[in-house]
Amino acid sequence: MSARPGFGGVTEGPIALAGVDLVDGGAVLRARWADGEAARFHAEWLRDCALDPETRSAANGQRLITVLDVAPQTRVTHARIDQDRLVVGLDPPGREFVFPGAWLREHRYDIPRPSEPGRVAPGVATWDCTLGDALPTETFPRARDDRRALARWLAGFRERGVALMHEVPARSGALLDVVGLFGFVRETNYGRWFEVRAEVDPVNLAYTNLGLQAHTDNPYRDPVPTLQLLACLENSVEGGESSVVDGFHVVRTLRAEAPEHLELLARHPARFEYAGSPGVRLRARRPMVELGPDGELLAVRFNSRSTAPLIDVPFDQMRAYYAAYRHFSEIVERPSSQVSFRLEPGSLFMVDNTRVLHARRAFAGAGRRWLQGCYADRDGLLSTLATLEEDVG
Ligand code: FE2
Repeated sequence: MSARPGFGGVTEGPIALAGVDLVDGGAVLRARWADGEAARFHAEWLRDCALDPETRSAANGQRLITVLDVAPQTRVTHARIDQDRLVVGLDPPGREFVFPGAWLREHRYDIPRPSEPGRVAPGVATWDCTLGDALPTETFPRARDDRRALARWLAGFRERGVALMHEVPARSGALLDVVGLFGFVRETNYGRWFEVRAEVDPVNLAYTNLGLQAHTDNPYRDPVPTLQLLACLENSVEGGESSVVDGFHVVRTLRAEAPEHLELLARHPARFEYAGSPGVRLRARRPMVELGPDGELLAVRFNSRSTAPLIDVPFDQMRAYYAAYRHFSEIVERPSSQVSFRLEPGSLFMVDNTRVLHARRAFAGAGRRWLQGCYADRDGLLSTLATLEEDVG
């Protein structure tokens, strides 16, 4: 995240600077480290990213200049190593700037980079039915009382996009206490949380005893809720197991079996809508597979119940698009893609709703099944995790 860990920065132990020279009349500086690695930096980039208090607020780290303060003719006039820091003269503005060697190492961009479309970010581990014990699991009391345990659970979630929690108080609304461990609830038209149990004339198919194909929630929102939690308060029905599918695994499988199918789902917008409640007309136009500008896999949206007529695919591509859409769905349905578990009272699972699909098997009318769900935001979770990792190592 670190995302999806981070933005590609590499954190390593300090490696000493070994040399520096200027290239292209000072338009570029080349730094070398003791392990033989080297990286070039543009003078403009160095000016923009300078760490001095006139460029970056010492209080909050925010940049105090704009790109219009970075002259295109900026040159490195001189550079020297001083105690594993690089002292760099830049003109304009005609003064020296200091860059720690470790900072430059971490922020180098003169590196080979992957470009395959649909690849996952560093730190993301895709999974299939063999996930097993790698499913991050913790109890609520421990996550609440032990910061290391909470950090471990959240780190596992960051990597896998799914996590289980047990010993959650089996009372209405207790799932909000779980969200409170790392962030804030995202309230929607369904409320701060919503009830999931069999209903007559339900406003949403989730409230029946029908099985639900694996899906991401609320693709008709823009942005979609990035986290979903589902907590069990009662479960005495037959069936009704929950299962989860790693959408990123599905995309990788799709790419391996038919790369053109990945391209079709990524290139054309799909449409999603929900109008099942009075006063609600939610609509979004987004692809089923969302790739970043460099091809990194960012998100999947997959929900047959709320997919609107697809009208953004050119006529001569529509049959191929449906083949791709069907292929994606077939991979979702494969037993090898699915991890299933029965939620018992006091248990909760959380998914990254931009990545992991969840499903429910059909259940019999006898007995009661009472779940509560809510949404929250992944960025807040990752922020909490990052600070926990700084604190507890
Ligand atoms: Fe759902």
